[in-house]
Amino acid sequence: MNTILLDPVKDADAYKKAVSLLRAGEVVGMPTETVYGLAANALNGAAVKKIFVAKGRPQDNPLIVHIADQKQLYTLVQSVPESAKKLAAIFWPGPLTMILPKASCIPDVVSAGLDTVGIRLPSHPVARRLIWEAGIPLAAPSANTSGRPSTTTSKHVLEDLGGKIPAVLEGGPCIVGVESTVISLSGAKPRLLRPGGISLEQLEEVLGEVEVDRALCEKIGDDVRVSAPGMKYRHYAPKAPVTVVCGDPERTAAYITRHAGMDAGVICFSECAFQFAMHERRVIGAAGDVQTQARRIFDALRSFDGTSVREIWAQCPNDRGLGLAVANRLKKAAGFHVINIV
Ligand code: TXA
Ligand code: MG
Repeated sequence: MNTILLDPVKDADAYKKAVSLLRAGEVVGMPTETVYGLAANALNGAAVKKIFVAKGRPQDNPLIVHIADQKQLYTLVQSVPESAKKLAAIFWPGPLTMILPKASCIPDVVSAGLDTVGIRLPSHPVARRLIWEAGIPLAAPSANTSGRPSTTTSKHVLEDLGGKIPAVLEGGPCIVGVESTVISLSGAKPRLLRPGGISLEQLEEVLGEVEVDRALCEKIGDDVRVSAPGMKYRHYAPKAPVTVVCGDPERTAAYITRHAGMDAGVICFSECAFQFAMHERRVIGAAGDVQTQARRIFDALRSFDGTSVREIWAQCPNDRGLGLAVANRLKKAAGFHVINIV
């Protein structure tokens, strides 16, 4: 299959072409403000199955359904609690996914057999226009081969899925860079299942106490039932093994300098970059600039594939704000191989 890049800036019919593919039950790569997604008609089970095939995604990992307008939420879930109304009013459109009891129109393949569904209203204008013109909700996981780092440019999508999907819609580099925050509102208390573009602190400001799922911080065994099935899989992993070093930036840099071999790649903060002049290094931004770190983290992880790097060392931001999401992606990329410098 030849994958075409549809660029709305150069081609006035780009949306029309993407919409006709989606309506015909095909999959299309779609930009969002977080990462690129691989979209299909969420109400068509056969179309959604093609997403799992193209990504090589395990069948028990449910998909997020993307909408273009707040009203669409009410048609896809059984009921909308006050907490969801408040969060939607403040954070939508934007990088927040809410898990709610699903309505019967959601096919089982979307929810992987669960009785809940994740809904998100993205803020990327290209995504919103696509969903709006398609006139259907779009199921979309991140547009990477299952297990690899997520994709934040159309070039990344073509690297992973070129030849396997009919088209990718161009939307430029993703401005958030890590996936949406996933919060479950289907239980007694709100529960954070995945940290992302909206911080835990922002959620707590609106909801009060938010429980944090332990799969965020530690490796989960294959036999354990987790709230978000995606959390138990090896994720975001480049080919070379990753070691994450947490703590004060000067001290983590010193630790990595002492332990990294000559064939190591290093993911580091700008302040420490000069210390890794001998290594293949990726600078993800200043130690305090988690926004920039979030935007660069997946490109950094992906960029070592195809180099001679045999091991990867990464400095890790602390857990404040967006730092929790960046740290979570790094730790998952490392299979939770983490060194804490205290
Ligand atoms: O930013 C994002 O959320 C991107 C863009 C494309 O919107 N999408 C994305 O999808 O990251 P994906 O499939 O890569 O990650 C979705 C996560 C998985 O960990 C999945 O297990 C969890 O959300 N999830 C989806 N539906 C769920 C449900 N009903 N209950 C619990 N977890 C759910
Ligand atoms: Mg993903």
